[in-house]
Amino acid sequence: MTTRVLKLWAALAVVALMAPSFHTAFVQGSAEKKQASLYDRLGGLAPISVVVSDFIDALVPDAVLNANPAIDAARKRVPAPYLKYHVTALVCQATGGPCQYQGRTMKEAHAHLNITERE
Ligand code: HEM
Repeated sequence: MTTRVLKLWAALAVVALMAPSFHTAFVQGSAEKKQASLYDRLGGLAPISVVVSDFIDALVPDAVLNANPAIDAARKRVPAPYLKYHVTALVCQATGGPCQYQGRTMKEAHAHLNITERE
C-alpha cells in the first residue's frame, strides 16, 4: 500500500470514529432544542412563580368568589403563600419541569368549596 492509500484509510477511520459525536453534537442537539419543554419555554421556575403569585393576589380579594361562604372561609383559613407554593409546583410539574407537586388532588382540594360555573 502506498503512503497515499494509508493516509486515505487513516482519514476514513477518523471520520468513522468522529461521526457519532458529530451526530450527538449537531443533529441530536438541534432535535433536543426543538423538543424543549413548555417549562423551559416559559423560562423556568422564576417567571412561573411570578405569574402564579400575581394570579393568586388577584383571586384572593375577588368579591364574586368571596360571596361564596365556603370559599370565603377557606380563603381566611388558608394562607395565600401556601397556595402560591402548591400552584407553582403544580404548574412546574405539569409543564415538564423538575418539581413534584405534593398537594392534594384537585378534587380533594376543591370539593368542599361548592364552586359554581360563574365562580
Ligand atoms: C386551574 C384551576 C385551579 C388550580 C390549578 C388550583 C390549584 C389549587 C391547589 C394546588 C390547591 C392546594 C391543594 C392542597 O392544599 O393540597 C388549591 C386549594 C384551594 N383552591 Fe384552587 N385551584 C384552581 C381553581 C380554584 C378556583 C376556581 C377556586 C375558587 C373559586 C379555588 C379556590 C381554592 C381554595 C379556597 C383552596 C384552599 C382549600 C382548602 O384548603 O380548604 N381554586 N387550589
